[in-house]
Amino acid sequence: MALKITVIGTGYLGATHAAAMAELGFEVLGLDVVPEKIELLSQARVPMYEPGLEEILQRHVAGIEGSSGRLRFTTSWEEVGEFGDVHFVCVNTPQKHGEYACDMSYVDSAFASLAPHLKAGSLVVGKSTVPVGSAARLAGTLGEGVELAWNPEFLREGFAVSDTLHPDRIVVGVESERAEKLLREVYAGPVGEGSPFVVTDFPTAELVKTAANSFLATKISFINAMAEVCEAADGDVVKLAEAIGHDERIGKKFLRAGIGFGGGCLPKDIRAFMARAGELGADQALTFLREIDSVNMRRRGAMVEMAREALGGGSFLGKRVAVLGATFKPDSDDVRDSPALNVAGQIHLQGGQVTVYDPKGMENARRLFPTLAYADSALDAVRGADVVLHLTEWQEFRELDAAALGEVAGERIMLDGRNALDAVAWREAGWTFRAMGRPRA
Ligand code: UDX
Repeated sequence: MALKITVIGTGYLGATHAAAMAELGFEVLGLDVVPEKIELLSQARVPMYEPGLEEILQRHVAGIEGSSGRLRFTTSWEEVGEFGDVHFVCVNTPQKHGEYACDMSYVDSAFASLAPHLKAGSLVVGKSTVPVGSAARLAGTLGEGVELAWNPEFLREGFAVSDTLHPDRIVVGVESERAEKLLREVYAGPVGEGSPFVVTDFPTAELVKTAANSFLATKISFINAMAEVCEAADGDVVKLAEAIGHDERIGKKFLRAGIGFGGGCLPKDIRAFMARAGELGADQALTFLREIDSVNMRRRGAMVEMAREALGGGSFLGKRVAVLGATFKPDSDDVRDSPALNVAGQIHLQGGQVTVYDPKGMENARRLFPTLAYADSALDAVRGADVVLHLTEWQEFRELDAAALGEVAGERIMLDGRNALDAVAWREAGWTFRAMGRPRA
């Protein structure tokens, strides 16, 4: 009989994983402790913007016309325990308030709620990003006859569906052949299409995730450090990235200089990694991550200073600043630790009159930063502005009509914090155009 799968936690990761499992042909039951989320998901809707996700939900959520009916949602732990053979735990591990370490309380409480309801023979699979050593600890909290595996997730927001269905690799930390066999059955589809399946122990599986994110953060901060040097030496970091990227050992990806990385993963993951290494007495191995973090945070300040300079130096008081982009990256409505909003907030706190526009992140941005002003379009945000800051590289902004915006802007000054706009086109339309790590022209 086909395996029955449950997914605990229906955030970005869990909702996508549940939908992907149904798409792969399994019967799936998703659980969340927030009834409003379950209500929404049961109507095949998601509380966030993730391209393609609602379409898959429409195809599988029970009760939706024409759906396979393979995917249901509940708030009942009992139902989940009764239903599932394999239980994926996909809850959040945010940064603790005022600390580098991550907050394990959602993971711990999911395990505590699930354990009493599990059938003998079932497999619990952790997907959350956790400090190394957590799996070994959590395995001890499960009852007799229940096994644990660790299977980190590498999906990117904005590409969550395709990253889940066609992953670069599947990593499973297991302690038995049976656990490995069950997970091979779950992932037979993607593995059949060529995704590598890496089997390892618990600590290595946990570390693969934090190591991968640390490497990605390092790549971004490396190129941003080069941007700092380029700014001092009048070099061009975009050309530099292109040129070093031709070396296949370096590669072109993740070398986009700008205002740096944000979001719910990279910043908190490198901090939690440092905190955990400290507990293990291996803090020296990761001291470089502190530098990665500080280069990253410095770029936000550098953007603020570039705006100040463009306005003639001195105070932001009374200056009108248009900010294009609020989310931490395009194709997402996520504003967690968003460099764009951080820059907007800094300028606002220094007296600037900041107006923000973002294609999908307005609702979340308003909630997080209610004191900023928001416009309904890029054109409205730019109207009367003394300077325009491009801070999240949405396609919509690449396609902006520089001449039309020039008509409504107070001053034609465009500062590109993402190195994504066409400098020539903006300059031709009469704008003073500057970008991070690039010559002034
Ligand atoms: C990341 C990892 O990519 C993913 O594998 C992991 O599972 C979760 O964390 P995500 O947070 O969705 O995914 O976004 P990602 O595309 O990695 O971008 C992270 C941040 O880095 C964004 O703020 C983005 O703007 C920034 N970035 C990315 C750069 O500044 N320059 C780059 O070259 C690439």
